[in-house]
Amino acid sequence: MNEPDPAIVVQARAKINLTLEVLGKRPDGYHELRSIIMPVSLADTITLTPTLSQIALTLTFGQGVDVARIGAMDRNLAFRAAKLIKQRYGVKGGVRIHIHKRIPIGGGLGGGSADAAGVLHGLNRLWGLCLPVGILEDLGAELGSDIPALVHGGAVLMEGRGERVRSLFQMGGQPPRRGFWVVIANPGIMCSTPEVFKRWRGDLTNSPDILHNMTSFIQACQVDAAAEGLYNGLQQAVFEGYPQVAQTARLLKEAGCLGVLLSGSGASVFGLVRDEAHGEAVSRRLGTGLWHVVAQTCPMV
Ligand code: C5P
Repeated sequence: MNEPDPAIVVQARAKINLTLEVLGKRPDGYHELRSIIMPVSLADTITLTPTLSQIALTLTFGQGVDVARIGAMDRNLAFRAAKLIKQRYGVKGGVRIHIHKRIPIGGGLGGGSADAAGVLHGLNRLWGLCLPVGILEDLGAELGSDIPALVHGGAVLMEGRGERVRSLFQMGGQPPRRGFWVVIANPGIMCSTPEVFKRWRGDLTNSPDILHNMTSFIQACQVDAAAEGLYNGLQQAVFEGYPQVAQTARLLKEAGCLGVLLSGSGASVFGLVRDEAHGEAVSRRLGTGLWHVVAQTCPMV
């Protein structure tokens, strides 16, 4: 008897936005963005097992991940990513996707996008498609804004709606020796992305300095400078519309983070800390009332 094909396991990392500039509204109604995105060590675990022809998806949930927030299976980004790559490349085989979710759902940490990116990478291997990363990024862009950045991996500059991504270190300079430590917290509410963009009232602070400064702080692993340079053009709109998010940011600051920022369009907030021990000290001060995790950014693919 033939041995069954072995399963493939992929770690699908969450992301944070260290900078997010909203450059203006586009004719198609979307907003033009420029953002530095870094994956973090907080990750969902995806197991891909080959089947004869069908695609199936099952989920389990880590502590603090709200099961009620999971939408319909056929709208799940991981499921849609599998369907897209199977159809596009005429793959006969199927796959059973199991995702153990640790990334808060709808929290501005790109959890659903990370899962889709992980499925694209994993199925490329499982089905022996040998597609280059650029093609996987293009497939990801058909499904959602954050997916190309997470398919790319490492610290990236994301532009447009999210479809243009490149390694942050392609623009010159040395890649960093290590990432930053962060404490990520989630207030347990969801921010509506369309509503947040609707609340956004122009952004006079944008400047090339925001991007260039943060790029060099990341390269030089200068956490104090990076804490000063954090920027999210959606933060004010989110803090005004969702006071619990503003309160979570205050708690992180009071617990000793060097600098605190909203991730994406919320509702998660992260704080930069000096090192792991500092992160653990912040975590102890936050106590058990607020979902949070100590993690490390992953600047390299
Ligand atoms: O990318 P996603 O489909 O999650 O975006 C949801 C909504 O957020 C969009 O329909 C749009 O109203 C708003 N949005 C935007 N500009 C972006 C991304 C999202 O206006 N770059």
